[in-house]
Amino acid sequence: MKQFSLLFPSTIHFGFATLDKVATIKMPEGSIGLVTGGAAMRKNGSIDRVLGLLKNKKVIIFEGVEPEVSVETVDKCAKTMRKHGVTSLIGIGGGSALDCAKAVAGVYKSGKSVKDYLDGKIKISETAFFIAIPSTAGTGAEVTKNAVLTYTEKKIKTSLRGETLVPKIVICDPQLTMSMPPEITAYTGMDALTHAVESYFSTGANEVTKGFAVKAIKLIMENILKAVENGSNKTARYNMLLASVTAGLAFANSGLGAVHGIGHPVGAIAHLPHGKVNAILLPVVMECHKKYASGLFKSFEKDCGENTIKKIKTLNKKIGLPDKLSKLDSDIAAKLPLIMSTMVYASGSMAFNPVKMTPSKVENILKEAL
Ligand SMILES: [Fe+2]
Repeated sequence: MKQFSLLFPSTIHFGFATLDKVATIKMPEGSIGLVTGGAAMRKNGSIDRVLGLLKNKKVIIFEGVEPEVSVETVDKCAKTMRKHGVTSLIGIGGGSALDCAKAVAGVYKSGKSVKDYLDGKIKISETAFFIAIPSTAGTGAEVTKNAVLTYTEKKIKTSLRGETLVPKIVICDPQLTMSMPPEITAYTGMDALTHAVESYFSTGANEVTKGFAVKAIKLIMENILKAVENGSNKTARYNMLLASVTAGLAFANSGLGAVHGIGHPVGAIAHLPHGKVNAILLPVVMECHKKYASGLFKSFEKDCGENTIKKIKTLNKKIGLPDKLSKLDSDIAAKLPLIMSTMVYASGSMAFNPVKMTPSKVENILKEAL
C-alpha cells in the first residue's frame, strides 16, 4: 500500500461573490502588495473592488506582469515590495500574475535576485503571507508550491519551488473569469485538462489525487465548450473554475508528466502560450501512454470514459485550438534542435511520466505534433 503526503492551502474560498472574503482575512500588520497582469482586472473592476475591500490598508499595486513571467519582472516587483515594506502579498489574475506574486513572496525579503534561488545559490527560508485569486480557469497556480518563470538569458522555463510557497488563502470567485475571452477560456481550460490527465498518469499519483483528477476531467469535458461558446454561462464558468482548482490540487500533490516536460522548452523557445502547446501535445503523449503503459491507460478509460484521445482532439477543434505546432509557429521545425538541447529528462514534470522519456521518444512526439 502506497504511503503519501498531501499539501494544500490553509483555506480555499470557492463560489460566486467570494471575492468579498478579502475584507475578512486577517493579514499581518503592515502594507499589502497587490500584483496583477495586464489591464483585464482593471477593466472588469476587480482591482477597484479589492481596493474598496481593503480601504483601511495601505496597498502597493504592481501591474503589468507579462504572460510567461520573466525573472526580471519578479526582481522588479520584489524590489518595489521591499521598498514599501510590504508584509502581505495578493496575486490576482492569470497564472503569470499569481506565479510572479508567489515568487516575490518567497524571495523579496532577502534582497537577492530570484535567479540566485533558481541557480541553487540560496534556498527559500521565509515566505510572506500570500493570497492567490485566479481570474482564469486553467493554471492551478493558486494551489501549487511552485512558480513557473521564464529564465530569459538561459532561454528556459523553470520553477521556483518550496513548500512554503503554497498560498495561505485562495479565493476562487468564478465572477472574475466571466470576462475571459473565448480563446483564453479555450487554451487555459485545456491546460487544466492536461493537469488532470497528467496527474492521473503520474508516477506520483495516489488515490486522492486520482479522484480529484477524474472529477476535473469530467467537469472540463462537459463544460469547456459551453464556456467558450457562451462566456456568460455562469454554470459553465463555475464548473470550469472548480475543475481547474481540483486539477491543481491533484497535480500539486502528484506531479505532472511529459506534456509539461516537453511543452515548457517548446513554449520558452518559440514563445508560445502554455495552454495552446499543451492542447496540441496532450493527445500525442496520450497515444504514447496507450502504447507503452497500456494497463494504466485502460484504467484511465475505465474511470474517464472510452475514446478519450479522439474526444480531446474533437474538443480542441470545436473550441478553435490548432492541432499542430506549425500552425502556431511556421518556423517551429527549425527550432527543434534548440528545443531538444534544453529538454530536461531526469527532473521536473518529465520525471513523473509513466513512460520513461528518451530523446528519441521526445523527438517522435514533437515530430508528430509539428
Ligand atoms: Fe500547465
